[in-house]
Amino acid sequence: MPPNVIAIDGPSGSGKSSVSKGVAQILGYDYLDTGAMYRAVTWWALDQGLAEVDVPARLEQCVIVSRTDPTDPQISVNGVDVSEAIRTPEVTAAVSRYSAVPEVRAALVAQQRQVAEHTSQGLVAEGRDLGTVVFPDALLKVYLTADVEARARRRAAENAERGHDADVSTTHQSLAERDRADSQRAVSPLQIADDAVEVDATYMTLAEVIDHVAALVKERL
Ligand code: DC
Repeated sequence: MPPNVIAIDGPSGSGKSSVSKGVAQILGYDYLDTGAMYRAVTWWALDQGLAEVDVPARLEQCVIVSRTDPTDPQISVNGVDVSEAIRTPEVTAAVSRYSAVPEVRAALVAQQRQVAEHTSQGLVAEGRDLGTVVFPDALLKVYLTADVEARARRRAAENAERGHDADVSTTHQSLAERDRADSQRAVSPLQIADDAVEVDATYMTLAEVIDHVAALVKERL
């Protein structure tokens, strides 16, 4: 594993993406959104009409490419840019089911480690199991959290921006449901790594969280 991997885990809507991109930009590192990879498999499976049980046998036909530029991350499936398509409510509602398939996790974890191998300066990777499973030797592990109300407000605002359903109480319900599914699944559930630094962003601005995490990285370099 390359030396400078920063693993940022936490529940939905905690601000992981904005924080991870910001930290990557400050440090000149690459950026990887692993949630987008699970969403991409889910988008493909729905597009192909595949139930979870049918996915393992067809998984080799799903080629995902992630661009690691933090100012313009994009993700494609079989050459099609799905960066927007993976954010629809349909994909969001199904992603916990497909991301619980062990073969899907094994394939994506291997791909995530390969991205880290090919990085030059370093990598900021965000998801649910990066500190616990994918990069156990990461230079820094952050567990980013915020109370569910704050997370629901943030996600509802993001959904409104994309023109999707933006009701805060529906978003609250769907976040709580996804937290429950992601925390209770058998394979790689959302967990805090023993050596992770927990950052509660409920009362912090985005800029404060980014500066705080970047400072933690610099302390360790
Ligand atoms: O970060 P996100 O909300 O875009 O992630 C989408 C889903 O992918 C989330 O419900 C859990 C799953 N996921 C995962 O199981 N493991 C990861 N490392 C990242 C995301």
